[in-house]
Amino acid sequence: MIPLSIPNISGNEWTYVKDCLDTGWISSVGSYVTQFENMVAEFVGAKYGVAAMNGTAALHIAQELAGVRQRDYVITPDITFIATANAIKYTGADPIFIDVDKDTWQMDLDILEEFLETQTYYFKDHTYLKSDKRCISAIMPVHVLGNMCDMERLMAIAKKYCLVVIEDSTEALGSSYKNKGAGTFGTFGTFSFNGNKIISTGGGGVIVTDDENLAKKAKHITTQAKTDPLNTIMMK
Ligand SMILES: Cc1ncc(COP(=O)(O)O)c(C=O)c1O
Repeated sequence: MIPLSIPNISGNEWTYVKDCLDTGWISSVGSYVTQFENMVAEFVGAKYGVAAMNGTAALHIAQELAGVRQRDYVITPDITFIATANAIKYTGADPIFIDVDKDTWQMDLDILEEFLETQTYYFKDHTYLKSDKRCISAIMPVHVLGNMCDMERLMAIAKKYCLVVIEDSTEALGSSYKNKGAGTFGTFGTFSFNGNKIISTGGGGVIVTDDENLAKKAKHITTQAKTDPLNTIMMK
């Protein structure tokens, strides 16, 4: 049997936790946090990583920075963990659920395209739902259980309809599509390090992006707008 979510604590965890306690770096910043951010970014193939309180907060912050506004819509698949939809609601937007492919459990891109073609209209670089004229500002594919949809096709659809792509990669650390890491296709990718995830930090999340400016803004938000240099993202 391969357990889905039992943490394996068999390395240097005790030593590192003691080090944090001894040095007083027990919260959201410090050299271990910076090291972790950089290691996650490097591992998935992104330029920048920014730690967040958890995967849900990472999704919330990514949407705020993607420009998702109150009464917008964000497209996401109808099979995911509740946190994806919760994070959309936290921005004041509403989810539009697209059904998944029965074999992969990933967003069915035929259904997505048909929905966008028939139910929306395009005006001045934005896509709007015909029925209520509200803006659909982003799309959030979820790489459920580490699977990924055809990300090249999804990115092309998102580009055509001006949707910012935020990949909920919380369950997909180490997954890739055509040798490109989960979380590196969209403007943002987000990861969770909850107790039941592939790597656990007890609780935690990371936002990855290739955009330096957005990474700085994310760091600013996750560190409550403090100006302490230790909170400054380590730019490469
Ligand atoms: C698909 C998905 N999205 C978001 C989350 C939220 O992550 P967290 O529990 O770290 O807030 C999880 C896991 O819990 C998840 O599986």
